[in-house]
Amino acid sequence: VTAGGGAATIAIRRGLLLVAAATMVTALLAGLARLGVLVGWGPRFAFAHGPLMVIGVFTIVIALERAVAIARGWAFVAPALAATAAVAMLAGAPGAAWPAGAATVALVAVNLAIVRRQPASFTLLMLLGSVALAAGTAAWAHGEPVFAVTPAWMAFFVLTIAAERLELSGLGLARPPRWAATALVVASLACALAAAAPLARHPLPARIFGGAIAAVGLWQLAFDVARRTIRRHGLPRFTAAGILLGALWLVAGGALIARRGLPPAGPLHDAGLHAVLVGYVLSMIFAHAPIILQAVARAALPYHPTMWIALAVLHVGLALRIAGDLALDDHLRQHGAIASAAALALFAAATVAGRLRRGKSAHPR
Ligand code: HEM
Repeated sequence: VTAGGGAATIAIRRGLLLVAAATMVTALLAGLARLGVLVGWGPRFAFAHGPLMVIGVFTIVIALERAVAIARGWAFVAPALAATAAVAMLAGAPGAAWPAGAATVALVAVNLAIVRRQPASFTLLMLLGSVALAAGTAAWAHGEPVFAVTPAWMAFFVLTIAAERLELSGLGLARPPRWAATALVVASLACALAAAAPLARHPLPARIFGGAIAAVGLWQLAFDVARRTIRRHGLPRFTAAGILLGALWLVAGGALIARRGLPPAGPLHDAGLHAVLVGYVLSMIFAHAPIILQAVARAALPYHPTMWIALAVLHVGLALRIAGDLALDDHLRQHGAIASAAALALFAAATVAGRLRRGKSAHPR
């Protein structure tokens, strides 16, 4: 793969995204199976749900985005290895954790190269996030149970997204004051250190971990440039809404973990984990999808107002699921989870609608 945007390179990038999309479908069905909603081939993959999501979907997407950003052919090794791990997991082949671990180490190397090129708080935070991912994945490859590595995987998402928002919020005129940038770095460090405890066989210091991720969410609510772009129209408003709603879930999830802990399984585990992984991560993905796809796959993903329906269903579904978790109401959590999964299908439909609309306006009768 070359770093440029030749037809072959774009085809490979799109192929990798296709692997991520196919893995997402199986990972979603697997997640529903974990809640007793047995659809299609999901039950067969129920116990692979977490690694499928983290490695097989998001490590591919994030590593691909980083490889395009650094524009070096060797950087594509990271998403290619993550895709290899995804295919191995989908095929039920043993040893998928090894290419997964190698992918995350390659991502650390890419982020190191980015830090050397541009030493800044946000590049360092991204590097730290990828180190958390690599540490968690190496522990998983060595046989640690998924629940023990999940905080490190969560730290990866929180730090990567926070770094991205710190970078974007520092570009405009109303950039956050220096103390605020320092506060974000301190909260991110606390999050990463706390997430490392279970890897060293210590209990997760839930108050520190939850408090730190809630602080990152509060930072975004106070300083993210989305607070201003929410006043605009069309795609910028949609993106800002996705970012601010995601930040609200990060605060809520962090507060829940700080208060009630993150047990290895059960409704509280589900609630704390998915407030962050669905509420924050998927909301950010909805918000950034048009930008990421344009940059990575050169595929325009035009805005369509029906994207709002998908965003609303995602968040309402998650609220129901977490209410069901806290009230120990299985039906409520199942219906909420089905709604969150349906939100992804609605988002895909909205993007098709956007492309059709653009096609029509590009070829008026
Ligand atoms: C609608 C979407 C989703 C559903 C229905 C779902 C469902 C579940 C369920 C039921 C569990 C077990 C929780 C427990 O301990 O009781 C779980 C665990 C987990 N989920 Fe999800 N999930 C979804 C989305 C996601 C996303 C987007 C991610 C990653 C970004 C993710 C990552 C994980 C991880 C890492 C675990 C821990 C795995 C384990 O303990 O084996 N999930 N999920």
